[in-house]
Amino acid sequence: MTTAEPAGPGRVLNAAMTAIYPEMPGKVAVITGAARGMGARFAAGLAARGVHVVGADIDGEQMAATAAQVNAEVAERALFDAPSRVVGTHIDVTKPDDHETVAQTALEHFGRIDFWVNNAGVFPYALAGEIPADQMRSTLAVNVEGVLYGAQTAARHMGPGGAIVNMSSVSAVRVRKGRGAYCTSKAAVAHLTESLAVEFGDRGIRVNSIAPGYIDTEMTRWVQEDPVALRHALDVVPLHRFGSPEEVFGALLFLLSDSARYITGHSIAVDGGSRHV
Ligand SMILES: NC(=O)c1ccc[n+]([C@@H]2O[C@H](COP(=O)([O-])OP(=O)(O)OC[C@H]3O[C@@H](n4cnc5c(N)ncnc54)[C@H](O)[C@@H]3O)[C@@H](O)[C@H]2O)c1
Repeated sequence: MTTAEPAGPGRVLNAAMTAIYPEMPGKVAVITGAARGMGARFAAGLAARGVHVVGADIDGEQMAATAAQVNAEVAERALFDAPSRVVGTHIDVTKPDDHETVAQTALEHFGRIDFWVNNAGVFPYALAGEIPADQMRSTLAVNVEGVLYGAQTAARHMGPGGAIVNMSSVSAVRVRKGRGAYCTSKAAVAHLTESLAVEFGDRGIRVNSIAPGYIDTEMTRWVQEDPVALRHALDVVPLHRFGSPEEVFGALLFLLSDSARYITGHSIAVDGGSRHV
């Protein structure tokens, strides 16, 4: 294990490292790709802070299981008089109509949408000279179009004060061999975030991105299981370890909070310094 914390969505309930933002309870968040990995951790972390969550994933079965697990943990801890809830639902982020359906689910259950986290992503492998057309198309469809349709939908339903956070990557600014489609898509997310921020500013909606480095999730499991890849990864991270989803959650919570209310069009790197190496 190369991270600070073991995996499991509920672990964040015990994470003392993240600040408490008193304005959070009662807010409503949509998170895509929330069945596992960072999205699941974000759902658990926000729910533990009184935020209602609609978690949406293409893996609807795992999404339902994750929502049930987080709800059980929140109920057990009884942190708030009116406990927050996670509603799990299906989405294919490449389909604009699916985003609208998720927004309607949030409005039916909770009556408003304050936050939208475009987190779903895919991480395919192919050397740049051999990237198949369908890999390029599907990567851009999930990682870039998925972010665009999510942001468009969020902006239709949010009022001033709404906040959108998109998941970019250190790969937006650093080349990773065999990940040409992914790196291209994440660079696009970083730039798209800036475009959205400039245009949505008129409506009082902030749009930022997070650029994680090596974070301990299923997406990076292969690195941890390959000794050569693992040594290389730890060499290019100045802090010489993987990050944990909690450490990314800290940045997300800040960007969603009122403490970031004059920050828009920005990307926060949560990468142990690896963007510099
Ligand atoms: N793990 C890392 O080291 C790392 C680093 C930088 C950026 N990121 C980015 O952070 C985000 C979360 O990464 P993770 O490591 O938690 O990934 P993960 O693979 O653990 O989870 C991604 C989730 O997205 C879902 N998904 C995939 N395609 C979808 C679609 N078309 N519609 C809806 N859901 C879909 C998957 O089912 C999965 O539950 C991704 O955007 C990823 O690119 C991850």
